[in-house]
Amino acid sequence: MTTNDNYIELLLARMTLREKVGQMTQVSGATEDHLALVKKGLVGSLLNVVDPVLVNEYQRASVEETRLGIPLLVGRDVIHGFRTIFPIPLGLAASWNLPLVEKAARVAAREASAVGVRWTFSPMVDICRDPRWGRIAEGAGEDPVLSGAIGAAMVRGYQGKDLANPESIAACAKHFVAYGATEGGRDYNTSDMSERTLRDVYLPPFKACVDVGVSTLMCGFNDLAGVPASGNAFTLRQVLRSEWKFNGFVVSDWASIGEMVIHGFCADKREAAREAALAGVDMDMMSACYLEHMESLVASGEVPLALVDASVRAILGLKYRLGLFERAQVDLSRVSEELEWESLEAARHLARESCVLLKNEGNLLPLKEDVASVAVIGPLSDSPVDQMGCWTVDGRAADVCTPLAAIRQMVSPGTRVRYVRALPEACSGETDEFDAAVRAAEASDVAILFLGESEKLTGESHCRAFLDLSGAQQALLERICETGKPVVVVLMTGRPLTIPWAVAHVPALLLAWHPGTMGGPAIADLLFGKHSPSGKLPVSIPRSVGQIPLYYNHKNTGRPAIDSVRKMPLGTPADPVGFCSSYLDAEPTPEFPFGFGLSYTSFEYSLPKVVVQGSSIRISADITNTGNRTAGEVAQLYVRDVVASVTRPVKELKGFQRVDLAAGQTKTVAFTLCPDDLAFHGRDCRLRVEPGDFQVWIAGNSQAGEAAGFTLRESMI
Ligand code: NOJ
Repeated sequence: MTTNDNYIELLLARMTLREKVGQMTQVSGATEDHLALVKKGLVGSLLNVVDPVLVNEYQRASVEETRLGIPLLVGRDVIHGFRTIFPIPLGLAASWNLPLVEKAARVAAREASAVGVRWTFSPMVDICRDPRWGRIAEGAGEDPVLSGAIGAAMVRGYQGKDLANPESIAACAKHFVAYGATEGGRDYNTSDMSERTLRDVYLPPFKACVDVGVSTLMCGFNDLAGVPASGNAFTLRQVLRSEWKFNGFVVSDWASIGEMVIHGFCADKREAAREAALAGVDMDMMSACYLEHMESLVASGEVPLALVDASVRAILGLKYRLGLFERAQVDLSRVSEELEWESLEAARHLARESCVLLKNEGNLLPLKEDVASVAVIGPLSDSPVDQMGCWTVDGRAADVCTPLAAIRQMVSPGTRVRYVRALPEACSGETDEFDAAVRAAEASDVAILFLGESEKLTGESHCRAFLDLSGAQQALLERICETGKPVVVVLMTGRPLTIPWAVAHVPALLLAWHPGTMGGPAIADLLFGKHSPSGKLPVSIPRSVGQIPLYYNHKNTGRPAIDSVRKMPLGTPADPVGFCSSYLDAEPTPEFPFGFGLSYTSFEYSLPKVVVQGSSIRISADITNTGNRTAGEVAQLYVRDVVASVTRPVKELKGFQRVDLAAGQTKTVAFTLCPDDLAFHGRDCRLRVEPGDFQVWIAGNSQAGEAAGFTLRESMI
């Protein structure tokens, strides 16, 4: 037994059942009632208190005024930064840069812990194939390998090497599980899928977080195949505890235990408390079901005391590892009003690498710093709150440097910058300023339009049935394009938008997501060529909402879409050639595929070379920078299992590497796979590796490159 275990066991032995239930209870906000509960030892965790003086007052009450002196675990949604706001998580994922993402999480941990927050409800690793869902902004997109890698990097950054370091905070992988598969992209809705898809696609990012030691998980609001996530013993006990050996704790989502009554899964809050506890939810966020009913459930034998003890052990264990028993008080000297230069630099770097260049006809970008005049137009040119994006509760608009400010700083002293906001906000329909915007564009050498989504259209409970430019933005764009001036559109959004007109008519398109505090300078760095864009899409961009769900790792079907059908004009009479998996009125392919992103230079990939040695499969390719400037490229490894006992995706990402290449330079990227990397869940839903033929690609996106192949022989498995 470690000192930790020993200490916890001794403490547990002294606790009353009521005190144990207190540890399993989380409340939000500093109120008199909550302080009174804390003093009775009936609160284990406090959420949403970020004033360090108040945190200290609550910790003092918990440590000095309760019988056993157990400190509180103070939690907060630190989703993509605390004070220094990084790009939204979908943007972080577009960088494919794991060390940078880890660094961002570390910055967030340092800032949050300075005010006494030692637990964040991040990373969100919900796979999402439906951009109507507002919460797509909070996750890493549609791919299990990329999401797992980004989630794991965030866990490492938050938790650091040692949780006891006062600058470390505990992470929480959420929302377990399949919340991102919410039907129709409507938040809180039902998810339903096969166990195989659950295991192959939705569970792996959580496993990746568990493998790097994530301290906690949060269960989702959704029901999955008829069982709410907060009462799901299959996912919480069988998969998480017994198969993965997770030994941290699970917190419910906000009131989600009580909501099992509304789901129609439990008759009342008592039954909800029982189902959640039996399923394996250790802490009740804000439904008070445990506080009100757990003692009677234990007394009646419906919930074994051993389960309560296991939950409390895990909760106390985390408090111990965080060093809270040693020191619960925040060191007020760490609190600073100033942001650190290194943090801002990290935010700028990451925002830059998260931008995806979607189109650059005639090399319109980069612009010259000494361009005579620039029109900066659009509702997101100078909109700090929108720029920070959703879930930035502790970010401050005053810290934000907007594109307008950054462009003014970056251009030569002689450059004239004409700014017209044109729309009071991105969803506004007011067109009064359009004429002024057109005049500014006409008078300038180039027009840069900042369009996209207001922050309030994204995030939790902000789902959309239409994904085109909101308000009068499309009309504005068309008016500006009519001037005949070169137009650059910078899209600042929380999700992929359907923008076919812009793709067809605008020469240069840069997708910047909601890029955070330093988004302005990061975008200016790219617009004026200080750096080349290197971001790649973590999610497919559909042409229209009707194509959703749309994702690159789909199945082939027995009748895949064929090119002749794609080219048939709308209204072509049915022809046998059309009997394939497509639409009559839309292409089946995305506007931009997963993994896509251009650069100011160009890269050429050789055909992959495969060398099989024993059980290891080495796949390599040469990448040459065929343009005339230094730039970074994210090389992606895709695999297809050609024939298997269950149908397999047409492509699956298996690895990625960032390479920096000078003009004309060639480098070799190499990946080594072992048979386990090719495993999938078979007909019995157990993980298996099957011999057979595989195709492999190393390419700059999921639709590019030529395939090589190898055979996995029985003897290699
Ligand atoms: C509800 C959200 O679903 C969850 O992601 C968040 O962490 C909690 N509220 C706490 O604010």
